[in-house]
Amino acid sequence: MNIIEKKMKHISYKKISILPTPFYKLKSISKILNNNIYIKRDDLTGFALSGNKTRKFDYLIADAINQGCDTIIGIGANQSNFCRILSVVGAKYDMSVHLILNGKKPEKPTGNLLIDHMLGANIYHIDTTDSKIRMQKALEVKESLEKKGHKVYFLPPGGSTMTGTLGYAAGFGELLNDFDKNNVKIDKIFHASSSAGTQAGLVLGKAISKWEGKIIGISVDVPELELKNDVYQLAKNAGKLLDIEIDINSVLVDTDYIGEGYAKRTPGCEEAVMLFAKNEGVFLDYVYTGKGAAGLINYCRIGKIQPEENILFIHTGGNIELFE
Ligand SMILES: Cc1ncc(COP(=O)(O)O)c(C=O)c1O
Repeated sequence: MNIIEKKMKHISYKKISILPTPFYKLKSISKILNNNIYIKRDDLTGFALSGNKTRKFDYLIADAINQGCDTIIGIGANQSNFCRILSVVGAKYDMSVHLILNGKKPEKPTGNLLIDHMLGANIYHIDTTDSKIRMQKALEVKESLEKKGHKVYFLPPGGSTMTGTLGYAAGFGELLNDFDKNNVKIDKIFHASSSAGTQAGLVLGKAISKWEGKIIGISVDVPELELKNDVYQLAKNAGKLLDIEIDINSVLVDTDYIGEGYAKRTPGCEEAVMLFAKNEGVFLDYVYTGKGAAGLINYCRIGKIQPEENILFIHTGGNIELFE
């Protein structure tokens, strides 16, 4: 048992993710970029068509069950990966799922939304990108369900709560085992960051293990100070459950790869998707992982990464988007 596994062993979780996910060197891309690039395949977490959110749900669903909830509310975009996994978790654990989605109701649901429909989630389309209006609607739905006697587990976008954050703290424990087994010292970790829960979990894992490398969250939509603060607050609050303090300087966020905003493709993102697909047979997406990888690629090209450094890219999933 490593230090993180020991630290977290009292926390209840459900084993819905199929773990550990593969960890290996991207040999062709390493050659092309003249750097040592490794990948953690969290696009293969094995439940509900995979992605980073299953690790969060390992902890969230255990918490919902422990609280005696019969209903879960989730918030996201029409094509939310998080809401897709929530729909499947709800079906598996016999909880009714209510999704507040921003985006017009399409004539025919596709991709993630198709899965939400298939599994009987109750869907409320809000035709606005204003997150305040979306939250207002979610709170109204919550109140009305509670009035009907339901016990509701309420999740913010991305499932990024204190409990959800534990998923990637545990994920960091898995990474420590990967580093050991492969006898590699990783210097920097890159991943796509948005609602902050993934990065906060990794930052917490770093704090527990006193790992010395850097974790760089490539923002896909959120401004720098906001994302930095979200990651810090989540890591700090989840850290309280484990008696761990977080150094704000361990929260590194880069917003240079957002382009025009959420789900708006950038040339770097398009290049990254094709580079990974053609050279490694690894499929990224254009909303999250493509932008995350674009950041990593540019760091290699502009010398922000030294040739002798070992870099890890966490593939957080989302590639269902390719079939929309
Ligand atoms: C595929 C994918 N990668 C990365 C992220 C970012 O993770 P987080 O929201 O925990 O920052 C998300 C979710 O928002 C996602 O769906």
